Formats: sequence, structure tokens, C-alpha cells
Amino acid sequence: MSEHKSTKSIESRPPKACGWMAEFTNEHDLLDAARKVRDAGYTKTDAFTPFPVHGIDHALGIKPTILPFIVLCAGLTGLCTALVMQFWMNGVDYKYIISGKPFGITPASIPVSFELTILFSAFTSVFGMLALNGLPKFSNPIFTNPKFDRATNDRFFLYVDSTDKYYNRDSVRELLSSVHPTSLDEVMEDNSSVHMPKAIWLGALLLVLAGLIPAAIVLNMRASDSDLPRWHVFFDMDFQPKKKPQQSTTIFADGRAMRPAVPGTISRGQLEEQDPFYLGHDPLKMSLADYRKAVFVSATDQDPADATKPAEEAKPAAQDAAAAPAASAPVNPPAVVGDGGTAPKYAWVDKLPIEVTEEHMQIGKTKYETYCSSCHGYSGFGDGLVAKRAASLLQDTWTPPTSLHADRVQKQPVGQIFHTISKGQGKMASYASSLSAKERWAVVLYVKALQRSRNANIEDVPVEQRSSLTPSVSGASESTGATVK
Ligand code: HEC
Repeated sequence: MSEHKSTKSIESRPPKACGWMAEFTNEHDLLDAARKVRDAGYTKTDAFTPFPVHGIDHALGIKPTILPFIVLCAGLTGLCTALVMQFWMNGVDYKYIISGKPFGITPASIPVSFELTILFSAFTSVFGMLALNGLPKFSNPIFTNPKFDRATNDRFFLYVDSTDKYYNRDSVRELLSSVHPTSLDEVMEDNSSVHMPKAIWLGALLLVLAGLIPAAIVLNMRASDSDLPRWHVFFDMDFQPKKKPQQSTTIFADGRAMRPAVPGTISRGQLEEQDPFYLGHDPLKMSLADYRKAVFVSATDQDPADATKPAEEAKPAAQDAAAAPAASAPVNPPAVVGDGGTAPKYAWVDKLPIEVTEEHMQIGKTKYETYCSSCHGYSGFGDGLVAKRAASLLQDTWTPPTSLHADRVQKQPVGQIFHTISKGQGKMASYASSLSAKERWAVVLYVKALQRSRNANIEDVPVEQRSSLTPSVSGASESTGATVK
């Protein structure tokens, strides 16, 4: 602060009086004085103490703050904002099943709702407190009196402001002297220079400039075409020694990061042996040669010849098999194995081992939508969101999911589809760890229903329900026997 300037302004205009300040040595005197001042009807008053004094609000007649009520309203606003936002995003704008959760408001919405409630409340508490207290305020006239410095140490002050509607200079002085303060002073206006010291301006400017640095770094990163890796603050967080599902690896010969079960091992409680219910085929009805091949192929989950080849060579072979699936025989593991022989002939289960009930259909639908629709699409055409996204990114390593309405898949026995879900097929992974055997059969049931829905004719509709169909549809399929597409 410039000494010269402030001296000049004080000289040019005499400071105005702002009120009276009484000083006390203990809180009991202060409380007595505060009660007297309150009873005389003054409301523009304030007390300053080195420590919190109980009952001072009451003694000064200060009403309880309305801040808690404002914070409650803000919290409720936050809660509603979170619920409406989540309902809109997940229930209306972007309806997508994530981990089988239903649309709209679910228990999974609780964390976000909780966080927004707290966020809105916290901001309102801080800024509401500042606003209600008239802060930030850079100076208070009471600071002009050097005695006031002891307010943070061992003195208690009572202040009556001149803006009070009953304020009268002499009567307030009389009232305050009647309570025997240690000192009684008239508080004078602080008319020192109102110009902010240069150092503060400079500091603020430096802070703003420093605040721009992160934004500048981000902008530079977006525009940079440097080959050097970006600057990672937490290197081991950005690059963890782990593999994500569907990623490739050079560690294993088949290049897959998702590992099949170790050959010849069975997880505890999963010894399902020879039961067609768990296999999708009946091993006891296979020839010994086929059985051997099947056990070998499914145990290592790959072409035995590929295992000895480097990963680069094995890859194109797998892609070929996926690219021309229609040409290969309708069998599950790669059409040509090991010694150049054919794939094993499975004795597929051709009759669903679970009952066709509404309940099983519902399980199948839920599980299909959770685990399969992301790739195969809700209707099974292979147009799920993951597939669409991969196609839009033009990833040449991506094998498009097979349409479940492809002729070849339509003709597959139920056991073979079950086997595909259980063991995986080509580029598709196994879902045996996510779905129990019964759930996998329910998914097969649902896939079959999906397939049939694309090739339905009027005979598929129960007689009593045919009349509920619109005449044009039932008429067309009845007369031509054409399938409803
Ligand atoms: C991550 C994407 C993805 C998911 C999820 C997925 N699949 Fe697949 N599916 C594929 C791909 C890719 C293929 C083609 C595999 C190949 O030929 O290499 C395929 C092929 C198939 C086939 C045809 C197999 C054959 O004989 O050619 C069936 C049937 C099938 N999937 C059913 C399912 C079912 C049922 C589910 C849900 C439990 C499911 N898929 C989940 C990607 C996926």
C-alpha cells in the first residue's frame, strides 16, 4: 500500500463515523452487554471474540441461518438432476443393455445420484455461506482501530453499526458506557486507498498464466504429429502389464490373450464328464477316432498343427476359415485338423434337453441380450453395436460375427449351437464361464426362436391366435405360403 496516497486521501476528506465499538476483558461482560444492546432493539450488531462463545447468537438476537434449508433444496435438486439424467440417458436416449441391467432407474443409479446430491449440497454450503455473510469483503471499518488486533488474542468486542434503524450516536454511546467496557471507541471509516497493490495484480496474472499451462499442453498434444509417446504422469497406470479380452499377444503360439482352460484340467465342481447336457453332443455315440480328435481339439481349443506353427502363420488360416464359413463342412472346430484329416463327427444333441416354457424363453432372451446382442445384434443378424463400431473403424483384424440366420447356422442341431456357446468357435470366445449349462440351453432355445421368427408361416401361429393377426399378413402367407420376412 502506498503510504503517500493514503495520507493524501485521509487529509482530503475527514473519515465518516461507522458506529461504536466496546471492548471487554471476558466473555461474561460481553454477553451481558450483548443482551442489553439486544433489548434496546439494535439489530445491526456484531460480536468479535478470540474463541466461540456459547449463547452469543441468542444474546445478540441473531436468528438461526436459513442455510441448512437452502442446502437441503440444493441436495434434492442434485438428486433429481441425477435421476432424470440417468433415466434419460439409459432409458430413453441410448437404450443399451449393460451387464444385463434393466433400462432407466436401477440400484446401479445410486452412486451417481449420491454423488450429485453431495456435490450440489457441498457447493451450495460453501457459496451460500459466503453469500449470506456478505463475503468476500476486503476490509471492515473496525480494522482501523489498532485495539481491535487483540480480538484474536484476549479481548472481546461488541460493535453497533450506524446503519441500524434506531441508531443515535449519543444514545448508543451512553448505552455502551453503562455496561462498563474496558474502552469505548467510535469506529471510523477506512478511507485508505482503494487501489489494489501492484503485487496482488501481478500474482493474479501469474496464477492465470499458470492455469493456462495444462490447457496449452492438451492443445499441443492434440495438434502434435510427433512419433514420441505422450508424456505419461503415471506411467504404470497407463501401461499395465495386462491383457484385455480379445487382445492379441506374442506370448502364446496361437496369438490369443484370452486363454482356454489348461488341457486335462477341470475346475472344482465342474466335473461334467460325458453328459450330453453339458457337452451338446454324446461322446458315447462317437467313433473312437472322432472322440480322440474331439478331445484333443477341444482340450487345446485349436488346430493341433497350428500349435507348432508360429502365430503369424496360424492367423491367416483362422481368418480363412472365418471368411468362408459356408464353404467348410457344417462342423464346429476348423474343418481341417492336424494330419490333414477331417474334423471329428460329433453326435450332436438334436432335441432341446430343457422344456420349452415361457420361463426358459425369458431366461434365454435376457442372457442373449446381455451376452450375445453386442455382437450378433438383437435380431441375430450380426449387426450388434460392437460389430458396427468395429466395422466403422475398419479394423482389418476384426472377424464379423456370423448372422444367426445364415443357412448354415439355421441347419445346425441345437447341440452344435450349445457347443459354440460353451467352447467358442473360431474368433468367438467361450461363454461357459458366464452362463450355466441350463442358461446356455435357454440361449439356444431363444436363438432357435429368433431363427424361426424370420422364417415363420401361418402354421406356426396357434389356431386361436390367428384371428388376432391383421388380415393382410395372414391372407398373404395363407395364400402363398410365403415366409413372413
Ligand atoms: C465379441 C463378439 C461376439 C459375441 C459377444 C458373441 N459372438 Fe457368436 N460369433 C462371433 C464371431 C466373430 C463369430 C464368427 C466366428 C468365426 O467364424 O471365427 C461368431 C459365431 C457364432 C455362431 C456361428 C458358429 C458357426 O458354426 O459358425 C453362433 C451360433 C454364435 N456365434 C452364437 C453366439 C451366441 C449364442 C452368443 C451369446 C452367448 C454369441 N455368439 C456371442 C462373435 C461374437
